[in-house]
Amino acid sequence: ANAQTTPFKIGLILPMTGQQASTGRQIEAAVKLYIAQNGDTVAGRKIEVIVKDDVATPDVTKRLAQELVVNDKVNVLAGFGVTPAALAAAPIATQSKTPLVVMAAATSSITEASPYIVRTSFTLPQVSVAMGDWAPKNGVKSVVTLVADYGPGNDAEKFFSERFQLNGGKVVDKLRVPLRNPDFAPFLQKVRDLKPDALFVFVPSGAGAAVMKQFLERGMDKAGIRLIATGDVTDDDQLNDMGDGALGVVTSHHYSAAHPSAMNKKFVEAFQKANKNMRPNFMAMGGYDGMRVIYEALKATGGKGDGTALLEKMKGQIFESPRGQVLIDAQTRDIVQDVYLRKVEKKDGQLYNVEFDVIKAVKDPGKAK
Ligand code: DHB
Repeated sequence: ANAQTTPFKIGLILPMTGQQASTGRQIEAAVKLYIAQNGDTVAGRKIEVIVKDDVATPDVTKRLAQELVVNDKVNVLAGFGVTPAALAAAPIATQSKTPLVVMAAATSSITEASPYIVRTSFTLPQVSVAMGDWAPKNGVKSVVTLVADYGPGNDAEKFFSERFQLNGGKVVDKLRVPLRNPDFAPFLQKVRDLKPDALFVFVPSGAGAAVMKQFLERGMDKAGIRLIATGDVTDDDQLNDMGDGALGVVTSHHYSAAHPSAMNKKFVEAFQKANKNMRPNFMAMGGYDGMRVIYEALKATGGKGDGTALLEKMKGQIFESPRGQVLIDAQTRDIVQDVYLRKVEKKDGQLYNVEFDVIKAVKDPGKAK
């Protein structure tokens, strides 16, 4: 068959079950919404999405990526809920010259693992540095950091701490919790004893509610310890169920469902309508924009599925996203975007991350050599 008449295949590898399942659910919903809004034919090619569940387990990710490339002959690999999954698939993208669009995972170094990787999510250095600037100017002179002990947590710890200290802040201790089934209680007890002005937290999407619950149950706030975090903790997927104890928590991140642009209002409304009122989170945003990057690249190649040609057309894309203006940096293949400071507030009876400040066009600080 002529390449122009065969379907264009996207292999979407996501954690649809297990601890990271909310990431898979959010991204799959966003991908479907993008297709519903933009059509399932691009430059004459019918778009076919093949969803595979890797349970966020890198060995499984690697096998699935291999099968998708070899058996299904996908034109693009996409998804990747956690850093180890993205890293496991990277060599397959390189060997097969298949563009790999990272829609979720956020360790800085991922884009350096293959020249075929393009990222539409964010990086932890990108969002953590903003908090390292904000906190010391807002009464936080000492902190303890608490992060999930793997790539993105290590990035958050390093880039937040370095910036916070540069601004005269004191990092009293750095605590790391296991990624799998974390028990925050002993760590929070330690923080209580150390009594810093604030606790800085990074945990991956899906784990924030447990942190918030235990933080409040242990009366950390009443003991005068503030919670500051990356927006992964006040995740829009869970925030509204965290209760009023979450009010006032300040975080830094690249996307809030409450982002007050016309485009975002339309996006949130359509997403909720199509998904039984589920609120889109930053993972959904990575999936939605990832599809945009794939669609526009395919249009630009006139429907040719060739991996290297597609990759070239993904690089340098600049567009308005529901999160704000974004750019896929042609050199690093990483996303450049605005980073917001947000505070949890109640709007129409629901909890939201309300943006109150912005740092424009932030490049991943992890790449600055
Ligand atoms: C990663 C996963 C997350 O759920 C998140 O919020 C940030 C980073 C990761 O594994 O890269």
